[in-house]
Amino acid sequence: MKQSLRGSRIAGTGHYCPERVLTNFDLEKMVDTSDEWILTRTGIRERRIAAREEATSDLAFAAARAALDNAKLGPGDLDGIIVGTVSGDMIFPATSCLIQDRLGATKAAAFDMNAACCGFIFGVSTAHALIASGQMNKVLVVGVEVLSKLTDWSDRATCVLFGDGAGAAVLEPCEPGEGVLGTYMRSDGALADLLYIRAGGTRYPTSLESVQNKDHFIKMKGDGVFKYAVRAMEDAAQQVLEQANLRLDDVDVFIPHQANVRIIDAVQRRLGLPEQKVVVTLEKYGNMSSATIPIALDEAARNGRVKKGDLVLLVAFGGGLTWGAVLLRYV
Ligand code: ACO
Repeated sequence: MKQSLRGSRIAGTGHYCPERVLTNFDLEKMVDTSDEWILTRTGIRERRIAAREEATSDLAFAAARAALDNAKLGPGDLDGIIVGTVSGDMIFPATSCLIQDRLGATKAAAFDMNAACCGFIFGVSTAHALIASGQMNKVLVVGVEVLSKLTDWSDRATCVLFGDGAGAAVLEPCEPGEGVLGTYMRSDGALADLLYIRAGGTRYPTSLESVQNKDHFIKMKGDGVFKYAVRAMEDAAQQVLEQANLRLDDVDVFIPHQANVRIIDAVQRRLGLPEQKVVVTLEKYGNMSSATIPIALDEAARNGRVKKGDLVLLVAFGGGLTWGAVLLRYV
């Protein structure tokens, strides 16, 4: 990464997950599955599900407030709000604008980042670039999903995987070479058909037929995603370390996107990282797409797993396909 005049660092983090817990045993009563199958194939025991009246911006607002409090900043300090999500309240306006209004962040420019599970990584990378260029000072980045409302609850191949939640971080300027040390973003649209929601856009607008065909729900080719995920995450991890002239041995905490524990294990083995450096939250939350990394980061920061001065490696892959990483010194 080209050295710029200033850097950015995380000033505070926060998260919020809905109260309702849906366990694998609950799912056994809904579809033909078992706790044993879900646990051994994915590593998930339970996930959180938003209430009927809870929308994406409600979760994001709670996480954003917690991150601002943690950073000891107010909404009026924000110049930008970036929300990584593929499950916004509406097609438009952007969910970030709804959060901006609710926070009262009157001078912040707000936009959404559609990079699926990479939403938070791409958001932090963008916030870092905006701060480094001097365009903005304080930027809130949120990763939030309510995937439960886009899930076909009769499809056992997908409904056991996903959960709802929101995580947030506030970035602020710092000396170059501190805080964020490397960012990497990649995409390959040729693989768009591995993971998608077909209907509701301009290619295939909402119709009686689209609803009857259940085309408003998430569709996934699980084995294809698995194959690319492992290679893509390994690539992204190595790219950010190279940018910062650091080695895998230097990494203190590795926070990968939480889609499947077998993907995480495979990436950890290929990178040669010891197990104790890897943060895994899948068991209690499932795959919350763009929200998994900021929630894991906030929990790790609050429970002391991530300490001041630690080198933290965040790596994700997602629909698009997209993949990317952020390397940062926690301060
Ligand atoms: N319960 C019981 N059996 C099931 C279930 C279920 N919930 N789901 C599928 N099966 C069955 C299948 O029907 C199949 O049966 P068959 O052999 O009789 O045809 C069998 O289990 C094996 O199915 P596979 O799809 O081969 O199972 P696999 O071991 O590949 O696991 C999974 C599927 C978990 C989806 C895996 O492929 C995976 O994790 N893929 C990565 C994709 C991913 O994690 N996506 C999450 C979101 S993507 C993202 O975050 C960007």
